[in-house]
Amino acid sequence: MLLQIKNLKINYKSDSRLLEVVRGVNLDIDKGECVGLIGESGCGKTTVGLSITKLIPERKGNISSGEILFEDKDILKLNTEELRNIRGRKISYVFQEPFSSLNPVFTIYEQMRELLKEKDNTGSQIAEILKSVGLEKIIDRKNMYPHELSGGMQQRVMIGMAIASRPGLVVLDEPTTALDVTVQRQILDLIMELKNKMNLSILFISHDLRIVFNIADRVNIMYAGKIIECGPKERIISAPSHPYTIGLIDSIPSFEHRKKLFNAIGGRAPLFSELPNGCKFYPRCRFKIDRCAEKEPELEDVSSGHASRCIRIEDIKSNGIIKDR
Ligand SMILES: Nc1ncnc2c1ncn2[C@@H]1O[C@H](COP(=O)(O)OP(=O)(O)OP(=O)(O)O)[C@@H](O)[C@H]1O
Ligand code: SF4
Ligand SMILES: [Mg+2]
Repeated sequence: MLLQIKNLKINYKSDSRLLEVVRGVNLDIDKGECVGLIGESGCGKTTVGLSITKLIPERKGNISSGEILFEDKDILKLNTEELRNIRGRKISYVFQEPFSSLNPVFTIYEQMRELLKEKDNTGSQIAEILKSVGLEKIIDRKNMYPHELSGGMQQRVMIGMAIASRPGLVVLDEPTTALDVTVQRQILDLIMELKNKMNLSILFISHDLRIVFNIADRVNIMYAGKIIECGPKERIISAPSHPYTIGLIDSIPSFEHRKKLFNAIGGRAPLFSELPNGCKFYPRCRFKIDRCAEKEPELEDVSSGHASRCIRIEDIKSNGIIKDR
């Protein structure tokens, strides 16, 4: 495995107390694999992504336990110098808002040159990178500033900068959320093309199940700080095994022809300051029984490489309420 996150727990300070917002996450990424991390806003996705290079600001929170093994070394045990060598080189990031990631007062060319400063032949490398992300037409426009590019082109620049050092892992955190639908499609195609060409390993974070199903090989669904279901994409689509995942899938318009379990998942995710006992999905789950509120379910295998955190799933499936599709 290229990356293994083991039992990761992260706290944030909130009103002078600490709230655990990542509550024991396990997640693996193999070389050349695209792994999706999905969940509603605030469930902890970005926090997991940032922790991979220890980017949780110390004033605001801390990683209280766990291991993050990257190429078999625990990132949480590295010193500042070692971390600097990993950030942006071996592990790079692309975030939602390309414009806020670019510096408005420097040209694109200057920013790329800065990134590549230790390397020879910077000019030809910049041209190579721009070409690889479909920006041939701006290769000769060395005095172009970020605001002169569209959002989609800015995101192409960010992706180019993220892959420039041929990183082992790229974390893409909602990379298309700020873009309109046609541009989203083009950026996803570009990511897929680069993944195949460069054998990139990707953590793809999104709240949009459709996008993740398009792009990921394996999928992790997160709810209230924990993974509640994980498995190969095909298994999650054909045999979702947690009531929350089933609700998410049934709310995708293109899956409308399928048997509907929920029109939408009612209610809201609980606040971290008010997590219920037992299963955290309990308040919203139409299959709950009293026992669900006693103890938080473990993540248990439902088939090879596919696991769910629901004590009733076999029961629910065998009653024919949820059918494998
Ligand atoms: N810097 C911070 N200080 C305090 N709390 C924070 C901080 N960043 C995030 N949180 C809290 O941690 C929880 C997880 O946030 P996170 O940003 O990881 O969620 P997310 O799943 O990425 O959400 P979104 O889909 O909105 O991006 C949220 O409850 C959030 O309020
Ligand atoms: S454990 Fe119970 S409350 Fe939780 S998802 Fe399963 S059936 Fe619903
Ligand atoms: Mg986020």
